[in-house]
Amino acid sequence: MKILFVCLGNICRSPTAEIVFREIVTREAPELPIEVDSAGTAAYHVGAPPDSRTRQAALRRGYDMSALRARVVEAQDFSRFDLILAMDRQNLDALRRRAPAVARERIRLFLEFAPETDTTEVPDPYYGGPNGFEEVLDLVEAAAKGLLQHLRALTPTRGANAH
Ligand code: 4NP
Repeated sequence: MKILFVCLGNICRSPTAEIVFREIVTREAPELPIEVDSAGTAAYHVGAPPDSRTRQAALRRGYDMSALRARVVEAQDFSRFDLILAMDRQNLDALRRRAPAVARERIRLFLEFAPETDTTEVPDPYYGGPNGFEEVLDLVEAAAKGLLQHLRALTPTRGANAH
């Protein structure tokens, strides 16, 4: 299972989702064959590390994002990934416009996996205050748990049909 998280710049929200989800899989479900990546729909920050405010907020919760670098969504991503999860509707729409018809149903809002939160979009923290970065982490941690539950439910238990 290959999962791609997508936001606008790939320096705040989607790299946060990438690191948080990778961490929860490593900790709670290392047996699941899950690959994780992130990308942006805009190319402004290609090659850059995550935003320093994002990195610092993540580090306070134990996530080290220093090795990540921004990249832009490419045409091959639509065939390479099984699930492409957008942080907000603007990026969902941009992805759906670019995707071939067969890939469109793989593109969803990440917060579909956090139905208990009172929002459906991870707000862009870039031009806001420090609370925005904490809110991104709160929403991403909630949706990462829900996504892992969803993927577990899709994965047949090994040995369940063994004789
Ligand atoms: P992200 O945040 O999409 O969560 O990475 C942003 C990063 C940069 C810009 C906007 C949003 N920007 O306008 O440069």
